[in-house]
Amino acid sequence: MERAASKGRLPDWACCSPARLEHVGRVRALMADWSRTLGVPPSDQARWLAVATLHDALRDADVEALLPQEVYPAEAARTWPRHLLHGPACAHRLARDGVDDQPLLRAVAYHTSGHPELDEMGEYLYLADFLDPGRDFMHEERARLRGRLPGEREEVLLRVIDLRIRHLLHRRSTVLQETVAFWNRVVRTG
Ligand SMILES: [Fe+2]
Ligand SMILES: [Fe+2]
Repeated sequence: MERAASKGRLPDWACCSPARLEHVGRVRALMADWSRTLGVPPSDQARWLAVATLHDALRDADVEALLPQEVYPAEAARTWPRHLLHGPACAHRLARDGVDDQPLLRAVAYHTSGHPELDEMGEYLYLADFLDPGRDFMHEERARLRGRLPGEREEVLLRVIDLRIRHLLHRRSTVLQETVAFWNRVVRTG
């Protein structure tokens, strides 16, 4: 599964629109570029590509139909806004299919929310997802932030988490505990 995904192949249960597949391709390109520049060992570079391929595999699925249990972690089903559940739903499917790479599952589950236990790969996936050059908002600032990566990871992370939380507050949306804990961890250790 991970080997196929590292080459860009999605599992047969994936549900991605053509536009989503283009986003996934751009996230893969960022992850490939950053992992090479950082000198990540080749076997781990394959994981970085696999997680990029898989992160939105259920983005266009009817997640509602998968509830209540089919998400990882299970409590997300009760507390998370529905549009964020594609990450936990995908992590659940991957675990069910035998993937036991916990950092990879966490990276998929929390690629939109962030999480204090994301590792380096998970943090870069969180950044690549937001900084995808094909997304249609904040072009100049996001281009500047991409230009500072992969070197200035902590500083860019703080700015991206800041922008995302600010956006949620502006829209009077829920800010998940995981997101606040992610901010707290990065601001302390960054
Ligand atoms: Fe997503
Ligand atoms: Fe995404």
